[in-house]
Amino acid sequence: MLIDSHCHLLSSEYIDVNEEIKKAIASGVERIIINGIDVKSSIEAVELSKKYKEVYAAVGIGPENVYDVTESDVKKIEDISLNEKVVAIGEIGLDYYWTKENKDAQIKILKSMLKIAKKRKLPVIVHNREATDDIYSYLKEYNVTGIMHCFSGSVETANRFIKLGFLIGIGGVVTFKNAKKVKDVVKNIPLEAISLETDSPYLTPEPYRGKKNNPDKLPFIVSEIAKLKGVTNADVIKQTGTNVRSKFDL
Ligand code: NI
Repeated sequence: MLIDSHCHLLSSEYIDVNEEIKKAIASGVERIIINGIDVKSSIEAVELSKKYKEVYAAVGIGPENVYDVTESDVKKIEDISLNEKVVAIGEIGLDYYWTKENKDAQIKILKSMLKIAKKRKLPVIVHNREATDDIYSYLKEYNVTGIMHCFSGSVETANRFIKLGFLIGIGGVVTFKNAKKVKDVVKNIPLEAISLETDSPYLTPEPYRGKKNNPDKLPFIVSEIAKLKGVTNADVIKQTGTNVRSKFDL
């Protein structure tokens, strides 16, 4: 099953989210997990998931949106996580590349999101930039699994997260010529540990790099992974679909 496990179709980069979803479905994408980044986009993701059988929602507050988050915002995420088409808490995480100045606030929100995931027995979709050791320790502490989205670390780091029960999210970056690190990760971890994602509207794969992304670009990511692993495109679609569905109720 062809699954986009991570995208942001509610981004203001798009004119019409419904058109983007229809385009993705028409191209053969069978499941799309729209990730919220704050309360507003999480609520909207849930509403869209009710409209399309192929669409599911991840709800959460991401590391770039931790300013002015109130207790009631956290409570709202917890409340909407009860919806039957919410399959994960995400996008959540830590981003020390973007800024370290609000590290404490980022950690506080991450913990509140992990608490919800644990309580609801939901997997998590995690953003990590230059915060591997902190992320690892909190995921371990809260005993959750899910996806390390847009993985950009080493093979060794990938294996640490795989051991913890996580899938490694591979997106458009793997098609970039200079992405040796991500290509190495794909070559050296089992196909059973990979999930596909576009992170739309960002990180559009070659040959469309630089343009606005849509889940309909997944086949370019599939082909590159198939090439790197010496398997067929169908093998990649089948196995990654099985991987995601073993953790997410899709
Ligand atoms: Ni994202």
